[in-house]
Amino acid sequence: MTVETVAVIGSGLMGRGIAYVAAVGGFRTIVHDVAAPALDRAFAQIRKDLDEGVSRGKLEASEATAAFARLSAHTELGAVAEADFVIEAVPEDIAVKVRTFASLDSTCPPEVVLATNTSALSITEIAAATGNPERVVGMHFFNPVPKMKLVEIVRALDTSEDAIEVTTSVAQRMGKETVLVRESPGFITSRINAMIGNEAFLMLQEGVATAEDIDKALKLGLNHPMGPFEMVDLVGLDTRLAVLEFLHKSLGEKYRPAPLLVQHVKAGRLGKKVGRGVYDYGDR
Ligand code: NAI
Repeated sequence: MTVETVAVIGSGLMGRGIAYVAAVGGFRTIVHDVAAPALDRAFAQIRKDLDEGVSRGKLEASEATAAFARLSAHTELGAVAEADFVIEAVPEDIAVKVRTFASLDSTCPPEVVLATNTSALSITEIAAATGNPERVVGMHFFNPVPKMKLVEIVRALDTSEDAIEVTTSVAQRMGKETVLVRESPGFITSRINAMIGNEAFLMLQEGVATAEDIDKALKLGLNHPMGPFEMVDLVGLDTRLAVLEFLHKSLGEKYRPAPLLVQHVKAGRLGKKVGRGVYDYGDR
């Protein structure tokens, strides 16, 4: 089917970024959130991001105006009935996702693909909340959505080929590259990234090198844009620990979180957001 109208469910950090790339990609974009203030904040941020895109020469002023005009904000889920493709970005809570997909299933015509941006929940379990799990697919964007090139497309147990094809073409029209992943913990990116980060903590703990030198080695020797400690300070050490604990529980021993990471979290050294993680960011 041809997709002309995309609905984004949830207008938080990820939802507003997805709405931005959808509108810039030329889709009429329906944004739904249960909280009106969240929609106001999202639209103000999208306007700001569009203006920034223009000043950085990424967009013509007329394109930014046209993209903004394609967006509409709704607190009622009923508005989503007009969409040809739905992307859910509500909080990472299985009960909320299941409720949302059960409602979407009765609101959207059966041919409409329902995609979830979940980072780690079971897409198969989310799909089971609908009467038509073939149309449910994972569509994992990265933060900040307008800048990050990749979308991981995730095939759950019953996802149809059609759903994957439509999702791939929507992602491409949003200017994204895609990879196809069978549903498994951490998909491709979170699993590998968590392992690199964990190995870095084990090396630091063993005294193999300083944090600065481990970061420098990965940047200059392996061409990573950021070192593993700079990265974990940005992501949040508590968030990284939660991912590792989940991988450890679901995939086994080799994912056991490094004791030094656990210690940092216990000490409250959660990263840049609190002013101190592996590195010290001064008063914040
Ligand atoms: P967020 O907390 O910033 O935004 C969630 C939004 O959903 C809020 O505006 C909230 O008002 C709204 N909401 C809550 N219940 C709702 C409902 N029943 N119907 C409609 N809207 C509802 O969350 P964020 O960070 O945007 O995450 C959303 C999803 O994206 C999660 O599944 C998360 O795991 C995933 N994700 C997050 C990434 C990140 O870096 N934050 C990266 C990739 C995926």
